[in-house]
Amino acid sequence: MKAVYYQQHGTADVLEVGERPVPEIQPHQVLVQVVSTSVNPIDRRLRNGELTEYITRTFPVVPGWDLAGRIVKVGSAVEGWQQGDEVLGLAFTWSIQHGSYAEYCPIDATSITRKPAEISFDQAAALPLVSLTAWQALSEFGRLSAGQTVFIQAGAGGVGSVAIPMAKHLGAKVYTTASTKNHEYVKSLGADEVINYRNEDYETALRAFEPAGVDLVLESLLGEGIAEAAIRLAKTGGAVAYMNNEPPEIGEIEQRDIRAEFLHHRPDGEMLTMLVGLFQAGKLALPRIQVRPLEEAQDAHHASEAGHTQGKVVLRVES
Ligand SMILES: NC(=O)c1ccc[n+]([C@@H]2O[C@H](COP(=O)([O-])OP(=O)(O)OC[C@H]3O[C@@H](n4cnc5c(N)ncnc54)[C@H](OP(=O)(O)O)[C@@H]3O)[C@@H](O)[C@H]2O)c1
Repeated sequence: MKAVYYQQHGTADVLEVGERPVPEIQPHQVLVQVVSTSVNPIDRRLRNGELTEYITRTFPVVPGWDLAGRIVKVGSAVEGWQQGDEVLGLAFTWSIQHGSYAEYCPIDATSITRKPAEISFDQAAALPLVSLTAWQALSEFGRLSAGQTVFIQAGAGGVGSVAIPMAKHLGAKVYTTASTKNHEYVKSLGADEVINYRNEDYETALRAFEPAGVDLVLESLLGEGIAEAAIRLAKTGGAVAYMNNEPPEIGEIEQRDIRAEFLHHRPDGEMLTMLVGLFQAGKLALPRIQVRPLEEAQDAHHASEAGHTQGKVVLRVES
């Protein structure tokens, strides 16, 4: 099968396009013929050699966890799915080898959901990782509800562009950060106030809107002082969901009764079914996508590394 893979860690230049054997499946899995996959920052971080203490590799590694495609084989312990079913899902695993940047990808049957006909394969492949991450942070952990306030960092990115409509759906007031070129985009997603983090200090700007802080902070940046700022921006009794950092070891968290956790997305076919239903019903706006052929995975990783892609970058596997 055609696949993108790497034989050692390194820059995007280690990504090769070539032939790999079609992977076997385990009894609880299905084999999906992938039509489209999408790029997430974690794909390039794993390629770089990060997070080896959590996620093991068997080289050559085919990267990628998001997929949309058709089932071509069903494991002996799987019920309810058959060949030809059109699905999307998150092929997450703690041990990577057979990812979704390939014509065929094994995935746990509990991690997929049916692809509605109205949502294209390209659009569907953009959804699993970011939608599950955002919902698990906002609703499950954050318990965001009507009338509350939320600060979503990097509103125009993959996570931000699904988190903003979700937070609006939950009835919250949304503050977000974006550079000028993305203001119109994040507004179209429902953001109430957009802070141009390039022109002004986002902490000062948010504080001017919400002197007592917000109910929930969705913190997806990395960098000096970022984790502490997120705590200062949460109101007393509020919450901070960290996408990249462990909560800082500061007394303020306990003193002000803030729930703060590093969250790691969890594949969950049932939750994905519910979320796809919201996208299908138009209750959540679909993220903007840029579609590129799988063969351009190197360039797509370079673009992701530069840190300013809008919405999601989708890789089309099927020609
Ligand atoms: N823990 C988890 O399970 C989990 C899951 C998903 C993602 N993540 C992490 O969350 C982060 C976001 O993921 P993603 O998929 O949304 O990434 P992404 O799509 O690559 O994010 C790109 C966006 O980041 C914005 N951005 C860049 N620098 C910024 C800054 N200093 N302040 C505000 N916005 C900035 C850019 O907006 P502008 O062009 O407007 O600057 C761009 O639209 C990544 O670090 C990822 O690793 C963690």
